[in-house]
Amino acid sequence: MKTNKDIYILGIESSCDETSVAVVKNGREVLSNIISTQIDIHKIYGGVVPEIASRNHIKNIDVVFNEALKVANIEKEDIDAIAVTYGSGLMGALIVGVSFAKTLAYVLGKPLIAVNHIEGHISANYIAHPDLKPPFISLVVSGGHTALFNVKSYTKKKLIDSTCDDAIGEAFDKVARECGLEYPGGPNIQREAEKGRPCIDFIKKPQSKNFAFSYSGLKTAVVNFIHNAKQRGEIISIQDICASFQKQAVEVVSRRAIDACLKNKCKTLVLAGGVSANKYLRDDLVERGEKCGVKVIYPDLKLCTDNAAMIASQGYFMYIENKGIAGLNLSPTPNIPLV
Ligand code: KG4
Ligand code: ZN
Repeated sequence: MKTNKDIYILGIESSCDETSVAVVKNGREVLSNIISTQIDIHKIYGGVVPEIASRNHIKNIDVVFNEALKVANIEKEDIDAIAVTYGSGLMGALIVGVSFAKTLAYVLGKPLIAVNHIEGHISANYIAHPDLKPPFISLVVSGGHTALFNVKSYTKKKLIDSTCDDAIGEAFDKVARECGLEYPGGPNIQREAEKGRPCIDFIKKPQSKNFAFSYSGLKTAVVNFIHNAKQRGEIISIQDICASFQKQAVEVVSRRAIDACLKNKCKTLVLAGGVSANKYLRDDLVERGEKCGVKVIYPDLKLCTDNAAMIASQGYFMYIENKGIAGLNLSPTPNIPLV
């Protein structure tokens, strides 16, 4: 039952291949979080096909919206504001969510809040950890981003470091494809890695501490290793390749994330984004954190990958601070600055 003090935010997410609508109460309590994933459709192409993603968002969004209201057991009129991912993401995919959100805001006469997808990923942790409050350091690792933030408040973040080329998730997906594993590659790499040994050094020289994150070099080194072995007719172990790649990919972000906590005298590290579902990454960070008094937290698996509850949560914190309120001229923006 909604009281006068309760704020219900409807979240909409359609930046990639998940069509999702959620209702979140007071920023932290999920009343519904409906996710319609297109993974099975894109799997046959080995990755997300933007045009197909847009068409499926159009097909799904209405159904997902109605289901989100039904599961939350509320009427449209009970919603206080509509929060939507307006970037970063695929242009055609974003257009569907943003247009739907604008229409709802207009018809219902409710405020529209423009949410940065990355900030949404970080906010997934406010749902998973009801006592979590800024400040903290956040490591965002997804298919499109690899970045470290100093989260000063719910709506203020400072970028510390980000990848200078590929994102970590992109590298997982590409390496998986070379290994003959299905899209999305991350979970499949993790599964194969558990059966292998991390015995291959793809890059002999470790990255210097002073450079930004980089995943292009590691990704290319793994691809070349596989091609060369195949040309020479050598038998390779996909499991060892996965275990070695996962270890090297994780080491780069883990070390830097803990360093950032120590440099900023911060005792809490918050993990976010699709790759934060990776068990090896979680365990590695927790182990490194324990050695220097940094507590590492992460969301439940369902909240790691794209979902609308995280967008509604971030929308709530923006709404109560009167930030990010957008007009009906809001444009979807494929590349927005990280903060
Ligand atoms: O956050 P997300 O759902 O979408 C973007 O915003 O990009 O992240 C998707 C990425 C994909 O690259 C996928 O392979 C990766 O997250 N991922 C994982 C795992 N689960 C998903 N990577 C490594 N290990 C996992 N268990
Ligand atoms: Zn995402």
